[in-house]
Amino acid sequence: VNHLLGIKYLNKQDIQLIFETADHFKEVINRPIKKVPSLRDITIANLFFENSTRTKLSFELAEKRLSADVLNFSSSQSSVKKGETLIDTVNNILSMKVDMVVMRHPNPGAGVFLSKHVDASIINAGDGAHEHPTQALLDSYSIRERLGDVKGKRVVIVGDILHSRVALSNIFALQLQGAQVMVCGPKTLIPKYIDKLGVKVETSLRKALNWCDVANMLRVQNERMDISYFPSTREYTQQFGVNKALLDSLDKEITIMHPGPINRGVEITSDVADSKQSIILDQVQNGVAVRMAVIYLLASKIKQ
Ligand code: CP
Repeated sequence: VNHLLGIKYLNKQDIQLIFETADHFKEVINRPIKKVPSLRDITIANLFFENSTRTKLSFELAEKRLSADVLNFSSSQSSVKKGETLIDTVNNILSMKVDMVVMRHPNPGAGVFLSKHVDASIINAGDGAHEHPTQALLDSYSIRERLGDVKGKRVVIVGDILHSRVALSNIFALQLQGAQVMVCGPKTLIPKYIDKLGVKVETSLRKALNWCDVANMLRVQNERMDISYFPSTREYTQQFGVNKALLDSLDKEITIMHPGPINRGVEITSDVADSKQSIILDQVQNGVAVRMAVIYLLASKIKQ
C-alpha cells in the first residue's frame, strides 16, 4: 500500500525496515552536509487542518533533507475558510503535480477517507483521537536507541488515553515489537475499548511506575475535553503528575517520554522533563530521521 494511514496497517517487518532506514538517515543528518538528493523529483504537500509545531516542522525538514519540493498548507489561512471541501482542496493541490500528501486533521479517519478519493500517497500526521503513526514510530525508535530494544520492555502510557491518537498508535507499535503495554490514568480518561487491546490497566501511578521500564506521559488534551470527563487540574496533577520526588522514590531508574507539547507542572514537572531520565528532545530529534525513512520508502514505491 502506498500510504501510511495508521500503525494498524503495518507489520513487524515494516517497522524494522523503517528503523533500519532511519538509522541511515540519522547518520546522514549528523554530517556537515545534511542533505541527500534522493527525492529531487518528488513534490510533497503538508496539509495541516489542526495546529502543530513538532510534526509540521519535522516533516518539512525531513522532506527538505531528502531534496523534495515542499508545499505547506495551513487550513486557517486557506480557502477552506470560504467553504471549500477537503477533497476539492486536495484535488486542486494535486493538479499542481504533487506526489505525496502529509495531512493532520481533527477528524478520525480523515486520512483513510482521503486515500479513497484522491490519487496520491497519503501520510497521516494525526487524525483526531485516532492515530498518529509517525509519532509512535519515533517513540519506539527512541526507546530502541535508549534501551537497546523494544522487545520485552514494559511501557506505561500515562494520562488522557481517551483523547489520544498517540496512545493508540503506540499501543499497536509496541505490541507489534513484543513490548508489554500498560495504560494508567483517571477512569474517566480510559476508553472502554481498551479491554479489547490486550493492555494492562492501572489507576495507581506509583504501581504503574514501579512496573515499567518506560513511562510515556501524555498531555491532558483540554481542547478535546468535555468537562464531565475530567478531574480538576490540581487533582489530576496530585494523582497522575510525575515529579522528581516520585521518580527518586522508585526502586529503579525509568525512562521518561512525552510526545509534546508539555503542560509543565501538570502531567510532568520541569525537573523531570529536563532530567537525564527524560528522552523528550531525543524523540523530537529522531522524528526527522524516522519521517525521512517513511517518506523515502513510500516515495520509492511511487517511482516504480
Ligand atoms: N507530538 C506532536 O504531535 O506535537 P505537535 O502537535 O506539536 O505536532
